[in-house]
Amino acid sequence: MMEKLGQELQKIKVGRVVDIATRRGDFAANLAKGLGGFEEIIAIDVDEKALAKGREALAADSRIKFECRDAYHTGYAEGSFDLVAVGNSLHHFEDVPALFQEMKRLLVPGGTLLISEMTADGQEGASLTHALIHRWESDVDRAQGIYHHHTYSSREILDMAEAAGFKVTKSFLDWDKEPKLVKGIEKRLEELEEKLAELKELPDYQELAEGVARIKANQAEHGAAFAAALVVFAEK
Ligand SMILES: C[S@@+](CC[C@H](N)C(=O)[O-])C[C@H]1O[C@@H](n2cnc3c(N)ncnc32)[C@H](O)[C@@H]1O
Repeated sequence: MMEKLGQELQKIKVGRVVDIATRRGDFAANLAKGLGGFEEIIAIDVDEKALAKGREALAADSRIKFECRDAYHTGYAEGSFDLVAVGNSLHHFEDVPALFQEMKRLLVPGGTLLISEMTADGQEGASLTHALIHRWESDVDRAQGIYHHHTYSSREILDMAEAAGFKVTKSFLDWDKEPKLVKGIEKRLEELEEKLAELKELPDYQELAEGVARIKANQAEHGAAFAAALVVFAEK
């Protein structure tokens, strides 16, 4: 759990929560752990396999439900949720304004939008290792024709929320120091060479190989830690 985010969540008591693009529910689990109180968290994604893993991992908490829904067209009634959350996913959406419009529609008047998103700015030393891994993984997706924007700057994220008609009430950079997550970064580092070997046929192979070398050099110099994320609280 990110430290400052955890402190903010403790102050919030809500009814219904939706976690957009939840994958295996990691951010939803953080919400469940951190919120001062909640009735239900609906965790949505289009990836059935990831949802199944999340359902299994979080089975002990019956207040968290996983549903297969497209975040652009969720099908939920207007104003269905008191808190709409999106964690590390904005850069996966090709049409961010459309995503924001749906998140706004889902939010009850007076409700809270919560964004947590790895930023282009604020990455240095050990955090840069994670940011570079993320950049490399998005380059791999892009080289294979999958939409994956690198990262947005803090300013761009705030501008997107404001352009959609949200009023930002609080924003700050935060870092996750959870040992389990840092271990996850180390595992991703170990797998880089293996993944690279599978990409030999791609025209961008040389650039991808240079990317791996850059990540390894940063890791050798600074180690690896979780990248900085911008946390934004906003209302409509
Ligand atoms: C980086 S992952 C999410 C990470 C997750 N929120 C967490 O904190 O662990 C991005 C997710 O966006 C999902 N996604 C992409 N387009 C989507 C859409 N139109 N509707 C719902 N989910 C979508 C992908 O399936 C993927 O699981």
